[in-house]
Amino acid sequence: MLQALEQLPVDPILGLSAACRADPNPDKVDLTIGIYMDDSGVCPVFEAVRRAQLELEQEEVTKAYLPPAGDEAFTSGMQRLVLGADCAALADGRVSSIQTPGGCGALRIGAEVIHAAAPGARVWVSDPTWPVHIPLIGSVGLAFESYRYYQPATHSVDFDGMVADLRQAGAGDVVLLHGCCHNPCGADLDLEQWGVIADMAEAQGFTPFIDIAYQGLADGLETDAAGLRLLVSRLPEVVIAASCSKNMGLYRERTGAAIFVCNDAANAGAVLGQAKAAARRVYSMPPAHGALLAGRILGNAELEALWRGELDTMCARINGLRGELRAALEQASGADFAFIEHERGMFSFLGLSAQQALRLREEFSVYMLDSSRINVAGVNAGNIDYVARAVAAVL
Ligand SMILES: Cc1ncc(COP(=O)(O)O)c(C=O)c1O
Repeated sequence: MLQALEQLPVDPILGLSAACRADPNPDKVDLTIGIYMDDSGVCPVFEAVRRAQLELEQEEVTKAYLPPAGDEAFTSGMQRLVLGADCAALADGRVSSIQTPGGCGALRIGAEVIHAAAPGARVWVSDPTWPVHIPLIGSVGLAFESYRYYQPATHSVDFDGMVADLRQAGAGDVVLLHGCCHNPCGADLDLEQWGVIADMAEAQGFTPFIDIAYQGLADGLETDAAGLRLLVSRLPEVVIAASCSKNMGLYRERTGAAIFVCNDAANAGAVLGQAKAAARRVYSMPPAHGALLAGRILGNAELEALWRGELDTMCARINGLRGELRAALEQASGADFAFIEHERGMFSFLGLSAQQALRLREEFSVYMLDSSRINVAGVNAGNIDYVARAVAAVL
């Protein structure tokens, strides 16, 4: 039976990262995968996570399954983190949440619940979007439409195009939005533009599905959630997929939450039942370790303050790197790279062709996606000039 299967091509992002690992060039630079790396090129463990882990190690008495909706300290902490402690929908009891294996698990459970409610729903995705959105949500059985989002010529959001396309989204449709730090382009909506999306959702009746995988990596935890919170304050229903992979560095612990803002408390209960049933049929029970750590951090003022400080430092470093990379590229090439500094999060399109990206790999061992999406956090003091000179050489 298995004999019938053919070899699939490797995942484009993971495949390039693996090729970089295998490259013997000591000057190689991996700008492919979306992982934060510090100045020594290491993806670090947060000190707050380390302390929570020590506490957990002392206190943990069982490895029995978590409840089907996950750890309560974690899910309630995530609701406060994402929605804000003063969120009216939270006070009204019309929010339900389920712990999931990472943000991917949250996207999947969100899609499963949407499909259960409206099997014919169309999901509107930005052009471009994170490629994994398509199999993750599409394999549930939902159909896609796309809306204009990124304008390569100006390196910015084509908001008029986005609005024109989303005029066709109506009741029963879902609009997938990146909460902040758009992956792959790094160009985000401003608060006024989020307000326009809220007006349209109100008038047209579509449901926002917000993927917030990078809260805290653009301009800080509260600012980064402002657009999402605006929608939640104005709309009866919002579906949210949140992740602790990046902002707590818990990548491999698979720690995320699907959060459903519902019409009323009774519906929030029904939706949670659907989410638990979906989890049961997809992976049964959530993994515990990362959520127990995140739950401790979000439930302990001292640990939370430590974590927030570490995250702010990380965020400031990424934004500082954006300025330094812009300066290094402009100095090496004479071209305009101001857009890098205006974007947010880990990603940016350098605006190179696939051919130029290939030359960078083959001639300089500088690895980026064929679309020229780079992970800005892969740049550091030791490689920034080399990267800038290599890019200038292929321009
Ligand atoms: C846009 C976006 N959404 C969601 C995720 C989910 O991440 P994870 O499942 O590792 O939490 C990622 C990770 O790269 C992402 O870039």
